[in-house]
Amino acid sequence: MAQKLVVGNWKMNGSLRSNAARFQVLASQVQLPSCVVVLVPYVYLAQAKASLTGSAILWGAQDVSNQSGGAFTGDVSAEMLSDFACHYVLVGHSERRQLHHENNTTIVDKFQLALNRSITPILCLGETASERQEGKSQAVVLSQLNAVLESLEQLEPSSFVVAYEPVWAIGSGNAAGLKDIAAMHAVIRNRLKEWNAQSDETRILYGGSVNPENAKDILNLPNVDGVLVGSASLDSDDFVAIARAS
Ligand code: PGA
Repeated sequence: MAQKLVVGNWKMNGSLRSNAARFQVLASQVQLPSCVVVLVPYVYLAQAKASLTGSAILWGAQDVSNQSGGAFTGDVSAEMLSDFACHYVLVGHSERRQLHHENNTTIVDKFQLALNRSITPILCLGETASERQEGKSQAVVLSQLNAVLESLEQLEPSSFVVAYEPVWAIGSGNAAGLKDIAAMHAVIRNRLKEWNAQSDETRILYGGSVNPENAKDILNLPNVDGVLVGSASLDSDDFVAIARAS
């Protein structure tokens, strides 16, 4: 895929003031070689929309409800996200799977509701450290991927993104090794090919301790169509450096 996708996940960080400074740096970027997206906390979506409209940067959310609306205190629906012109939403991030006990059924519902509103879901997949030690990495990742591929009929390959994020690499400061990344991306690509002949249109991102130093090598790997960046996306200069590394 020609243009890489570089996605920043701010997680639960930011304030109106600090966001304004970040948005300013991002909105001033021109001629970026990659497609760049920032995923901000819900409460800052209006600020993201106001600050980034007309710029080269897109925005989105970090989660979405598995319900379309109603008595679900604290939840935010896909319809609400589309009110703020969200382009992308994370679905099944490991912090949601682990800390909020989200299972594949919930994740499939979120994925479908996002698609219904033309918001591109970024499906996060990844094994934990213990699953890796037990030699289950591929099985775990494939079961998370299959949950979506096998549940949703008429899924368009270009309508979603997959992100391989080994849980042990997230926030650790140590990205997975290049060989490990390439191997898992090949497994994911092969499964996608088996599923749909047009699946070259599905982007596969890597996430987990991506920084300006390692971004170029990761982005140059086969089957790596972009990166999902957590902590390094909070420093706009670092994030821009990663976006320009592709
Ligand atoms: P990290 O987070 O870049 O801080 O490791 C990545 C993620 O959780 O999406």
